[in-house]
Amino acid sequence: MLPSFVFRPIRYSQGSLTLVDQRVLPGRIRRLRPARARDVAAAIRGLVVRGAPAIGVAAGYGLALEARQLDDRQLRAGLRRAGRMLARARPTAVNLHRAVSCVLEPLADKTLTGDSLRRAVEARAMALDREEVARSLAIAAAGVVLLRDGARVLTICNTGALAAPGVGTALGIVFEAHLRGLQPRVCACETRPLLQGARLTMLELVRAGIRGRLIADSAAAAVVGDCDIVLVGADRIARNGDTANKVGTRMLAVLAREAGVPFYVAAPVSTFDPGCAEGKGIVIEQRDEQEVLSCLGRRSAPPGARAFNPAFDVTPARFISGFVTDRGIISRPFGPGIRRLLAVTG
Ligand code: MRU
Repeated sequence: MLPSFVFRPIRYSQGSLTLVDQRVLPGRIRRLRPARARDVAAAIRGLVVRGAPAIGVAAGYGLALEARQLDDRQLRAGLRRAGRMLARARPTAVNLHRAVSCVLEPLADKTLTGDSLRRAVEARAMALDREEVARSLAIAAAGVVLLRDGARVLTICNTGALAAPGVGTALGIVFEAHLRGLQPRVCACETRPLLQGARLTMLELVRAGIRGRLIADSAAAAVVGDCDIVLVGADRIARNGDTANKVGTRMLAVLAREAGVPFYVAAPVSTFDPGCAEGKGIVIEQRDEQEVLSCLGRRSAPPGARAFNPAFDVTPARFISGFVTDRGIISRPFGPGIRRLLAVTG
C-alpha cells in the first residue's frame, strides 16, 4: 500500500499509458498520453518523465504500446528497433538499458508470435513496474534506520515518487521516517539547471507535510555541517561502487567527507551495472547548453555566452559511506556486497 501523498506519474491500463508531465510541475498537472515508442522516447529525452527507475518503467510501457501498433510481420524487428531507440533516449541511467532488455526477453521465445508475443511484452512491462514499486518500498524500509528522530537530511535533485515508481529512493527513506513519526527535516538543493530540487522535491515534501528548506546549490557548503546525513539517488553504480548521479552530487560527497557527515546512496538493484567495473566506464549525458544559459525558460546569460551542461557526475566510491538497496544496506568494502546483490537479483 502506497501512502496517499505520493505521486503516481506513470500509469498504464488496457493499452493506454499516462505520464504526468514533470516539465510543468509544480505549476500545472498536465497528463500526456503517448501512443508509440517514439513518443515515449521523446518524453524520456525531454524529461517529461525522469529519474532512473521511472524512465526504465516508462520505456517498458513504450515497448508494450509499440507492440500494439505493429502488425504481425513487423512485430519482432519493429520491437527491436523501438528498443534501440528507447535505450538511446538517455545514456547514463542503466535502468533504461536493463528495462529494455528485460521487456524484450520474450523475443527469445520463437514460439511466441502475434498476440501471444504482444501479451508477453506487456506482461513484462507491467511486472517491471510492480517490481520497481516493491524495490522502492524495500529501500525505504532498509534505509529508515539511518535516520534518528528529527534527522536533518541534505539531498539533491528529485528522488521521490516522481523519479521511481512507489515512494522513490532517497526521498522514499525520508517518507518512511515521516510515516513513523520521526519528523525528518530536509534541506533540498535546488538543482540547477532544471531545478528538480526546487520544483519536484519541494512539491513532494509539501504534499507529504514534511519540513523542508530549499537552498541554492552553492549554499551546500554552508549547511552540510548542520545536517546528520547526505542522502542521494543514483543513475548508475559501477561494480566498485563509483556512482553517477545528478551533477552536483560529487560536490556534496566531498563536502560531506570534509564535514564528517555520512554520505549514503539509495538505489534499487536495477541501478547497479554488472557490466561496468568503475566510474570511468560511465557515459555522462551532455545536454543542451540552453538549459544553463536560461532559467525557467528565460534567457539569463548574455547573447554570445556559451555553456557546458553535463547532466550527471561520478562520485568515487571512496566518498560513499554506504548504499541503501532493496536488499539492505551495503557497507565497505563495497565490491563483495555489490557482487552478492547482483548475483541474487541481477
Ligand atoms: O536528470 P534527472 O532528473 O533524470 O536526474 C535524476 C537523478 O539524478 C536522480 O537522482 C536519479 O535518477 C535517482 S532517482 C530515484
